[in-house]
Amino acid sequence: MSTKISAPSSILLVCLGNICRSPTAEEIFRQQAAIAGLDIKIDSAGTGDWHLGEAPDIRAQNHAKANGYNLSKLVSRQVSADDFRNFDLILAMDSQNLADLQAIKDDIANVDGSLARLALFSEEDPTYGGDDVPDPYTGDGDDFEHVIKRIESSVKAWIESWKHA
Ligand code: 4NP
Repeated sequence: MSTKISAPSSILLVCLGNICRSPTAEEIFRQQAAIAGLDIKIDSAGTGDWHLGEAPDIRAQNHAKANGYNLSKLVSRQVSADDFRNFDLILAMDSQNLADLQAIKDDIANVDGSLARLALFSEEDPTYGGDDVPDPYTGDGDDFEHVIKRIESSVKAWIESWKHA
């Protein structure tokens, strides 16, 4: 178990395309933070640039909608160096995303002193801790549904960890 810290004021969720996992995580985090009474700025981005300006994948939208989450207004963007200055915490959906983010962070001249903390999205999750959120892009409906359950579990774990900080 990692050292307890209080809730960040801003969180960026990051996956590869920013059309499946991270927009789903953005909306689930936004809803759960509001329910918990936490005032947190929440956004998402992708390490890749293939889907810039696009709405989330229609399969991700439909599965999210069936579970009470509306992704229709979200727009894909790519993570930038400024994100490391503007967010307190950046959460990677899988270990490849985490490695790609660490490489960007390492490239930024650390003159600012306070760059975002990086972590795996599942880090605090008692069930899935340390595991990747699997990429559903080439998968089927069950894979998209599984991603929602995984994300709900890990979001609850983060919020729970801040309650006891
Ligand atoms: P995401 O899924 O990283 O969860 O948004 C993907 C979306 C698109 C691609 C890969 C993964 N792609 O290769 O275009």
